[in-house]
Amino acid sequence: MKNIGILTGGGDCPGLNATIRAVAKKGIVDYDYKMYGILEGWRGLIDGMIKELDMDSVSGILHRGGTIIGTSRTNPFGKDNKGDPEKILENIKKLDLHAIVSIGGDDTQGVALKLFKMGVNVVGIPKTIDNDLSGTDFTFGFDTAVNIATEAIDRLHTTAESHNRVMVVEVMGRHAGWIATFAGIAGGADLILIPEKPIDMEEVYDVLRKRHERGKNYSIVVVAEGIKIPQENEKGDGFVLQTEKRDDFGHIMLGGVGAVLAKLIERGTGFEARCTVLGHTQRGGTPTAFDRILGTRFGIAAIELVYRGIFGKIVVLRGNEIIPKDLKDVIGQNKTVDDYWYDIAKVFFG
Ligand code: F6P
Repeated sequence: MKNIGILTGGGDCPGLNATIRAVAKKGIVDYDYKMYGILEGWRGLIDGMIKELDMDSVSGILHRGGTIIGTSRTNPFGKDNKGDPEKILENIKKLDLHAIVSIGGDDTQGVALKLFKMGVNVVGIPKTIDNDLSGTDFTFGFDTAVNIATEAIDRLHTTAESHNRVMVVEVMGRHAGWIATFAGIAGGADLILIPEKPIDMEEVYDVLRKRHERGKNYSIVVVAEGIKIPQENEKGDGFVLQTEKRDDFGHIMLGGVGAVLAKLIERGTGFEARCTVLGHTQRGGTPTAFDRILGTRFGIAAIELVYRGIFGKIVVLRGNEIIPKDLKDVIGQNKTVDDYWYDIAKVFFG
């Protein structure tokens, strides 16, 4: 009987448990594997923290948000690591893990690729609410985040209208504006600002002024946290930061651009503005049916690859098919919002 490890890395997202359940149940039932959850992402492999995932422990979790095995942004190859990659190799040997299914975004899969090159059997599953992993049409978690943001925009419409206000809604999206664009289209935003499109504040004021001139006394502006407002921030290279601390992968911590924007809009147009930051509500709670199904399909496809002995791959969604791709062809390239989507959104600006 072979032992297989599953881990979840990076920010949590809805659909992780559905995915863990699919990998574990298929592994146990069809392949007679002994399944283990590696706790708290790559940290669990450095410290040898695992727990068995039997049929009972993965039952009743399909609809639950978060991850039953915990997650972290631990980077074993980070500049301050203390022989972490070697500790991982030792633990894999000690725990007799035949293969590892790593569920995560670009950072997590980047580590998976490095370990694969060191001889570890890995298969990746793409996850992030940001939908910015290249090679796949969608990651699971994104659909849930878009639905949460859309519901928030729907609610903000009525209060914006009652008070004649501009409502700025800040959503997640570090490198890419997928959540902002999709939720903005679905929620009928009057303006969507994303990292892919340089911001010109004069144009922003102009769109809002024109809208007010044609009798609309309120507006909804959806903004991705990763936009740069050139005149506002010198320290963060144009980004608005929560703190100057960086995570293990060297990422800055974004957040707060919505409030900055609301102030500028008030100053630049004279319209009263408020900001709502959706933050981690976009990542918490029950996954949509779409995310449960996508996670389930990814999970089944990944453990099938393990069974067939095909490693160094990540399963992705292309059209309606789940296919394997080489990890090396997917890592380190952000999938950003293309003009097809932004042009649709733009039709409804103002
Ligand atoms: O997982 C990606 C993401 O959702 C980004 O959009 C966001 O910047 C980041 O996570 C915030 O995560 P945390 O607060 O957990 O560090």
